[in-house]
Order: sequence, then C-alpha cells, then structure tokens
Amino acid sequence: MTVATFLDTLQARIPANAIVTDADAIAPWLTDWRGRWTGASPALLQPSTTADVAAIVQAAKAHGVALVPQGGNSSMVGGATPPADGSAVLLSLRRMNCIRALGPDHAVVEAGVILETLQNAAAEEGARFPLDLGARGSATVGGLASTNAGGTQVLRFGTMRAQVLGMEAVLSGGLIHDSLSGLKKDNRGVSLDHLLIGAEGTLGVITALRLRLVPGKVQRAAAWIGLDDPHQALALLRRLEAATDRIEAFELIPDASLQRVLRHIPQTRAPLAGSWPWHVLVEAVVSAADEPPQQLLEQLLGDAPIGDAVIAQSDAHTEAMWRIRHSISEAERTDGPAAQHDISLPIDHVPAFLTEEARLIERRFSGTEATGYGHLGDGNVHFHVRAAAGAPRDWADGPEGKAVSALVHDLVTRAGGSISAEHGIGQMKKDELARLASPARMQALRAIKSAMDPHGIFNPGKLV
Ligand code: MLT
Ligand code: ZN
Repeated sequence: MTVATFLDTLQARIPANAIVTDADAIAPWLTDWRGRWTGASPALLQPSTTADVAAIVQAAKAHGVALVPQGGNSSMVGGATPPADGSAVLLSLRRMNCIRALGPDHAVVEAGVILETLQNAAAEEGARFPLDLGARGSATVGGLASTNAGGTQVLRFGTMRAQVLGMEAVLSGGLIHDSLSGLKKDNRGVSLDHLLIGAEGTLGVITALRLRLVPGKVQRAAAWIGLDDPHQALALLRRLEAATDRIEAFELIPDASLQRVLRHIPQTRAPLAGSWPWHVLVEAVVSAADEPPQQLLEQLLGDAPIGDAVIAQSDAHTEAMWRIRHSISEAERTDGPAAQHDISLPIDHVPAFLTEEARLIERRFSGTEATGYGHLGDGNVHFHVRAAAGAPRDWADGPEGKAVSALVHDLVTRAGGSISAEHGIGQMKKDELARLASPARMQALRAIKSAMDPHGIFNPGKLV
C-alpha cells in the first residue's frame, strides 16, 4: 500500500506520458497562484481520457492513495494544492481539453477546457458562455464547476451551477456518472450533478460538462460611475433593476482599489476626471437588433442620483474599464499584507457592512484599513483588511490577521451571510467553516463526504 506500488500498477493501465515523476515538471503545480500554500506530490498524473481517470481512481482505492484534482490551479483558497507531506498525488485534468460538441445553446466540454477557450469557441458559433472572471485564461471548466465559481456576470445568468446542464464524473472506486445527455427533467432522486458542483473535488472527479450557452449576437457597453458611498450604489442598482433586465454586471469598487490598480498595473488610466470615494462599473448587454446599449445606459443614468459617469463609446473603452476591474485582485496582492475575505450578505446589508462594520474592524485593530470591492449585485464583496504599515508579509496568517478574519466572519454570520460566496472553502476556510456553520450543515456535509468517498481518496484536507 504505497504510492510506489500505486504508480507501478498505473504504468500497466494508462499511457506512460500520463505519469510524470520529474520533480521540475511537477513543481509549478505544487504552489497556488497567490503563493500562499505549497504542497508536495510524488507524481503528476495527467490523463487524457475518462477511462484513464477511472483507472486512476480505481487504483487509488486499491492502494489507499489519495488524489488531488487540479484544473488551472487558480484556486483562491488552496483548494487544488496537495498536502505538504506528499501523501497524495496530483491529478491534473488539463489534458482533458476536448470540446466534444458545440451547438447554439449548449457545449459539451471536457473538464480541462480553459474558460477563455470555451468563450471563444462559443463566439465562433454565434453563441456565448455567460460566465466570466479575471482568471479566464487559466481557469478550467472542471475547476469552475467544482467550486461553483461566480465572477462578474452572475447578476443576470447565475453562478456556474446555473450553467451546468449535465456532467460526466468519476466517482468512488472508478464508477462513471454520466448525465451529459442534459435531460431537462430527471427526478431519479437527489441530483448527483448538484452534489458535485461546489464539492471542490472532495466527492469525485468531474471529467466533462454539458454547459448552457446563450445567444451571442449582442452589443455590450460599460459605464464607469463615481459615487459618494455604497448606499448610493445600492440605490442605483435597485433603480436599474426596476428599469431593465439588460444589466449583466454591477461591480462596486472603492477608490483605494482603483488607485492600487493605477499604481501597479501598466497602461491603466482613471476612467473619470474627478475623484470619487466609490465607483461602480455597470455593463449593459442588448441583442444585436436592439438600440445601442450606450443609449440605454444614457437613459438609465441620465437623471440618476450619482456623482459622475462616463459611458464607453467603443469596445476598446469597455475593455479598458473591465481591465481595471479584473486587475484589482492582482493589484491588491502587490500592495502588502491583507486578510482577504470572500463574503456574501443579504444585498441590503452590504453598504452598512462596507461602512459601519468596516470602521468597527479598523477601530478594533488599530492601523488597519478595511474595504471591499466586487459583485454588489450578488451581495458578494471581496472584503480586504489591510495590515498596519510595517506588518510582516505573513501577517494574514499570524495571530492578528487570524483574529481579524474571525471577527469578519462572525459579523458576516451574524448578518445571515456566507463566509465563502464564490471562492470555496479549500484549506483556507476549513476551520472557519467548522466553527461557524450550523450543526445541520456540518452533519450533512460530513455524511455526504463519507458516503461518497468512503476510502478518503478525493482531495483530502479540503472543505470538511
Ligand atoms: C474577483 O472578483 O476579482 C475575484 O473573485 C478575485 C478576488 O477575490 O479578488
Ligand atoms: Zn469575485
């Protein structure tokens, strides 16, 4: 029962090039993209067929070896980083990158297909995959489904869960679950698809997905809006929602985050001439035959109580606005230690959280700066508490950073919110989930884990 005999067994069952043992080739996949966690793995398995994944899972059970499924390695919570003791083997899905079918309203894609590749392939068919996020160039659809990823277009189309019409997955012992035919109605008990979505690879390995596409012949335009405070932003969101269903994104950005992007990300410019404490990036998407989205935005914003606004007049201008938004994460990372939280709240509570609760946290931890940016339309903000000047690089993992996170999570839980809106639990929030989730949730999560993964093969040390 060792990793060595497991790998020996696999030699006979899967192609030789699916087993990598060269330490230099494995190394880039052992650390998460933010550089927060580093694991160890004696091998990197990179199957290119579902049958090979099934053979790997079967052998893993026989030899008692755990597997860590990995897509683009863009997890925000260490969800795809193996344990540091080398007891588990990395299972990369990146070579399963075939688009098996593509029609006007759906695509059947293997787990390793990169989000941007799917977006481009859909566009060539006159369709659109309605989910987008900053890591589109590396995140794979398997990882997106496993984490029920969100991103910036959730407002209109929902999270990844809403895009999945069916899936193929390898379950315990190597059995294959297949719902790729995408039935609209299927009441054969609990949905296995929905158990696997958001399970972070702890219940099985997703190998392919049938995903929803929406009509792609559209015109889009963004507007950048300057505001006094998040309350004004929420009022604007409500006003837009009441007037149209064409708004696809509504992103709230504090000036501190904008300034960080302008400082750290080359070729970015402030969208507005004046300075505002808060900003909103809103995007309207209309069908190709409709009046231009700029007109719609002009009508909607014309007499709205806002500070200032600029409406993008070209695709390049819209892209420039989005580039700022999608660079925030990177700019925030460059700018010194911060305890980062991916929280959601009942939407009406978000402005108060970003003002009153944020000030409370700053008072409690002197010298810190608390602010949040992100998907106001989904009640989801990335709430960062920046350390006082001079704090060590690993401040967020030290006693004060942890105390800050515990307070943030307590406040969120008290308000009926979630300590993980779209990034998942991974290894980062496992203890906090256990501390704060209701006994009902924890009992069910643990029971599902032991029922679906009785041998503890799938992604050990994550989620529960
Ligand atoms: C975002 O919205 O930019 C992403 O979820 C990443 C982040 O938390 O910064
Ligand atoms: Zn986000």
